[in-house]
Amino acid sequence: MRSSLFRLVHGSKMKALDGFPGPAPSFPFGNGLDFVGKLPWEVCARYAREYGGVTRIWLGGRPALVLNDPKLIGEVLDTRADDFYKNSPRTALLPVITDNCPFIANGADWKAKRESHPFRMDGLREWLASQVEPMRAMLREGVRLLKNVPGPVDVTQTVQQLGFDAFSVAVWGCVLGADVYEWFLTLGKTGDLRMKLDLMAPLFPPINPWFYSARRKWFALFSSLMDQAKAPDQPPRSDLLSVLLQRGRPSSDAFRDAMANIFFGGAFSAFSAVTSSLYSLAHNPAVEQRLRVELGALVGRDPDYDLEALESCTYLDCVLREALRVYSPAPLYFRNSAKDRSVSLGGQTLPPNTLLFISNWFLHHDPAHWNDPDRFDPSRWENGGAEQNPFGSGWYFPFGRGPRTCVGQPFAMMAMKLTLAEILTNSRLELDRTLPYRQDFFFGVMTPKGLKGSFRPVGSS
Ligand code: HEM
Repeated sequence: MRSSLFRLVHGSKMKALDGFPGPAPSFPFGNGLDFVGKLPWEVCARYAREYGGVTRIWLGGRPALVLNDPKLIGEVLDTRADDFYKNSPRTALLPVITDNCPFIANGADWKAKRESHPFRMDGLREWLASQVEPMRAMLREGVRLLKNVPGPVDVTQTVQQLGFDAFSVAVWGCVLGADVYEWFLTLGKTGDLRMKLDLMAPLFPPINPWFYSARRKWFALFSSLMDQAKAPDQPPRSDLLSVLLQRGRPSSDAFRDAMANIFFGGAFSAFSAVTSSLYSLAHNPAVEQRLRVELGALVGRDPDYDLEALESCTYLDCVLREALRVYSPAPLYFRNSAKDRSVSLGGQTLPPNTLLFISNWFLHHDPAHWNDPDRFDPSRWENGGAEQNPFGSGWYFPFGRGPRTCVGQPFAMMAMKLTLAEILTNSRLELDRTLPYRQDFFFGVMTPKGLKGSFRPVGSS
């Protein structure tokens, strides 16, 4: 009945994508109710199992395609990227991250913003190497303080705040403090709500006064840090801000915003992966033991370890790759087909501006590609495993694919490895292993939720 009503109302539009398989839509929500109370990437994975690599769905009266096919995803994100553009989450994120970010830009504007992004600077690797020491010192102190906390803590929140402080040291040259972290979360909550509403309803400017207050303080702080860094007779410093200002980067609002957005670009996703790694290690003692042996040799070095030594920890690399596969922090994002013309995909013609869901969740767990896919098994990345499934390949793309692949990947990998290494070598996480891994969806990122644990001295029982 509801299906016939849907066809009656939207029949003319339905012809356009009729060639693709998908669940029958019903009036008035189409297939929108499939997503209510569910994690959207799991719904997309179910569609893959039931309908294959492309599924046509309806969000109310608006058709969309859900892509789970590596070849088609490769076309959309990479080889035919010019036939597609990024609409969502532009409107949702504009009030939070401003227009000064490649993440929500398109066309020539995107190209210019991507090229001038701080992480596209010459000598990125040398700068990353210079940050191992200050970030490590901050993380050691942060972990030392955590060991004094008497009761169990929320592991996701704790690791995220630790990571935020480590990002602050590298990018701004100092720990910014708890208030600034609160502003970040306030801005993040507004962005999160808007991203969730984005595909369902028209978006209006935020109404929450705390959002505006946090945003004012957030940007004012970064403007003042830039003024301080430009003041005469500053001692030489290695943080990203000082390095880029020394190299003559103009201290414009655009630069300030791009620097501030490094937190939004990566603090939620990078430290989701660190927490997922800690969870997986606690549930796989043999893996943890092997990693601890490797890290023991790393921190036992004199002088202390550098970037090269960190990167030579191959098992640490395997653990992280596996956490990014099993618990992909960015499991779903969107593209639209060109606004002004029809484009073809999968042998069919898409009407202008067709919405596409792109998910890596199903492909990261596809049993046709991965052996025992739900098992956390870092050794699958050894003996040629990493070469067979490089970042940005068909069944493995936690950082995206093609020209818009994550600009923060090198920094994120280094920060995640450093944080894991310092947590594991300076503490023993007593995780409450009775608690299941539950997923949350915040600011477009999959984060574990509800994990509790205590950080104890190494060797204590
Ligand atoms: C584990 C950590 C991270 C993950 C899993 C991740 C994931 C992703 C993914 C999947 C994309 C592609 C989105 C799309 O194609 O629509 C992306 C793009 C992007 N990421 Fe990350 N990211 C991480 C860390 C970071 C960090 C630390 C930054 C800091 C700058 C960052 C900044 C960006 C930006 C600016 C883009 C847009 C690039 C463009 O459109 O040209 N990310 N990221």
